[in-house]
Amino acid sequence: MRILSGIQPSGALHLGNYFGMMKPAIELQEQGEALYFIANYHSMTSLLDAAARRRNTLDVALDFLACGLDPQKALLFRQSDVPEVTELAWMLTTLTPMGLLERCTSYKDKIAHGLSPHHGLFAYPVLMAADILIYDSNVVPVGRDQKQHVEITRDIATKFNETYGQTFILPEPRIREETASVPGSDGQKMSKSYNNTIEIFGQEKTLRKKVMGLVMDSRAPQEAKPDAEKNIAIQLLRLVAPPGEAREYEDRLRAGGLGYGDLKKALFEYYWNYFAAARAKRAELEANIVYVHRVLDESAAKARALARQVLARARVACGLD
Ligand code: ADP
Ligand code: TRP
Repeated sequence: MRILSGIQPSGALHLGNYFGMMKPAIELQEQGEALYFIANYHSMTSLLDAAARRRNTLDVALDFLACGLDPQKALLFRQSDVPEVTELAWMLTTLTPMGLLERCTSYKDKIAHGLSPHHGLFAYPVLMAADILIYDSNVVPVGRDQKQHVEITRDIATKFNETYGQTFILPEPRIREETASVPGSDGQKMSKSYNNTIEIFGQEKTLRKKVMGLVMDSRAPQEAKPDAEKNIAIQLLRLVAPPGEAREYEDRLRAGGLGYGDLKKALFEYYWNYFAAARAKRAELEANIVYVHRVLDESAAKARALARQVLARARVACGLD
């Protein structure tokens, strides 16, 4: 089984990225041939600062390695180190109906959040299809917001196979229901573009402030809260605390008597401890950036060799070679 996923270096990674994609992806490295890449070409659709892209790319690599990606088991590389993917994207784009892209909710969301509609943003899912198909990927671990993109990938692959003969494997999205959409501080899906994130790594003081700033309603501490399971702090607590302890807080909130401030303080402690080991590992890696670059370079060479084989197959299929 070949497992593939990507993440954009468009800002610091947060709990939604971690529980929705990174943790499942890191666990899957035990079950097959895993390829994870930093989608720096994709980040060009929203980030126009070259220095920030370079810095974020290294940060994503550090985050993944600190959180447990094992370079002996999984590849970790920059998308742009396999430029063949852009050639495949062109082949696929000629078979992609406009209507398919027009239906994309993530494109519509981005426009609604103020990004200007340009061709790269619109064509984004075609490059993503190329990312997936060029490695003969079987399984794509992602959060729920990416499900439609994997479905589009299947549609495009089917169209190519029907037009030019069997060439591509159809991938399956792998989504964990319990962490498919982690809420941010305002209750919407946590996202780098919504200014509602709690990062995995960062300054303790800043992050404590973010946790204490989770938006709650104005009900008094004593009041019973029959909808306790919907509380953002409870939902996040479920991710970072042992299940029995999270349940206890939820029951106390439901019964009345637990104030939101105390709940958030508890959440912060669990969250801070949850990432303690990863934080230490990250500090070690930061002191050994040469190693991180070596992982990226060696992984890219292996990924590129795989990509070249599939691209060669596609070139023959459509009559370029
Ligand atoms: P963002 O929305 O913050 O820009 P990305 O689009 O870079 O995040 O997403 C990277 C990965 O993390 C994708 O697989 C995506 O589905 C997942 N992801 C992002 N936000 C969340 C969330 N709030 N809950 C679950 N998964 C998420
Ligand atoms: N679109 C994904 C995101 O924003 C990132 C991505 C690019 C990706 N190419 C991919 C994810 C291929 C999975 C497979 O999160």
